[in-house]
Amino acid sequence: EKITVSVIKADVGGLCGHTLAPIELLDAVEYVVENAVDETLIDYYVTNCGDDIDIVMTHNKGTDNDEVHKLAWDALTDATDVAKELKLYGAGQDLLSDSFSGNVKGLGPGCAEMEFVERRSEPLVVFCCDKTDPAAFNLPFYKMFSSPFNTPGLVFDPSMTEGFKYEVMDIIDHKRVLMSTPVETYSLLALIGNLERYAIKRVYRGRDNEIAAVASSEKLNMMAGEYVGKDDPVAIVRAQSGFPAVGEILEAFANPHLVSGWMRGCHWGPMMPVGEEDAMPSRFDGPARIMALGFQLSKGRLVGPNDLFADVAFDKARDKALEMAEMMRSMGPFQPHRLPESMMEYTSVPKVLKTLESRFEEIPENNCKLEKTTDRGDLE
Ligand code: 13P
Ligand code: 13P
Ligand code: MG
Ligand code: MG
Ligand code: MG
Repeated sequence: EKITVSVIKADVGGLCGHTLAPIELLDAVEYVVENAVDETLIDYYVTNCGDDIDIVMTHNKGTDNDEVHKLAWDALTDATDVAKELKLYGAGQDLLSDSFSGNVKGLGPGCAEMEFVERRSEPLVVFCCDKTDPAAFNLPFYKMFSSPFNTPGLVFDPSMTEGFKYEVMDIIDHKRVLMSTPVETYSLLALIGNLERYAIKRVYRGRDNEIAAVASSEKLNMMAGEYVGKDDPVAIVRAQSGFPAVGEILEAFANPHLVSGWMRGCHWGPMMPVGEEDAMPSRFDGPARIMALGFQLSKGRLVGPNDLFADVAFDKARDKALEMAEMMRSMGPFQPHRLPESMMEYTSVPKVLKTLESRFEEIPENNCKLEKTTDRGDLE
């Protein structure tokens, strides 16, 4: 029998500002989800990364299931009521619609789901992020599934030597393409190195097309005709025996990379791997955080989690991320700390330009605007 793992997430309010989804909201979600165990769900785990609430659910109903999506929607709606009552910041931020229509996609919440036959032992890692966007997974997914310097298993495990296939989304033209590594490694990198336009949605094992990883990237699509931009993402990655080992999956975050997000969703900054306790981004509303929750599935039951980035061996990665944060912050409102216009989550720059519109003029031939007003003969 097939098991489905669904991770559905949303930011429905922060305490204070955009820093944290408080326990009151997690309780509201948990109350709804707990009541659905046995009837709809096999098991669940509710947590938060910064101001985002992450609901991990297991069931037998397949991906994109109405009942499961409605459950998550109802739980997040109840949490929104609590957030409004507490006047939390941005209460209901990610619930863009007043009514549910069968699937959370397009309604605001992010969603990563995969269905598979549970192996004899089924280790998996659920990643939860805050203050970044789904393209943040492009570089680490590449390392996990295609770099033998990150994942020696690609060399040693015969079931991985045929490589992995990537489903890459073109965010601007709303298209997708399937590409295989190692054969198409360089062409893949030509796409996914462009974080403005491409995001990896899924990864499959080359040998048998078994699902290996999935990220929540729906929201990168236009919604209601408007670019709503970033969504703090989640991802699910299967581990061991034909997939990268847990340690190989985590190793992709040992050397922090720069991602878009951070303050106002408008800045580049480091992705800092943290344990659940440290997923409270507050410095300049960040820098971006990622948690890694390790589970073993047992007939769909979620055994765990093991809070994998809580390991002291990631302290160096955290130190390095903080040094990178210092370096980027020193640029203030200048690129490359500030994102290019096309990637900014919200910006007043068009308004600023509007007010300056009438003051812009053509540059004259002699390229000189200010005329000499006094004869400073004394300087000659
Ligand atoms: P253990 O010897 O601790 O079981 O580890 C085996 C392994 O493959 C680690 O990557
Ligand atoms: P969130 O996407 O986590 O709500 O953060 C938005 C923001 O503006 C942070 O400064
Ligand atoms: Mg927020
Ligand atoms: Mg957030
Ligand atoms: Mg965000």
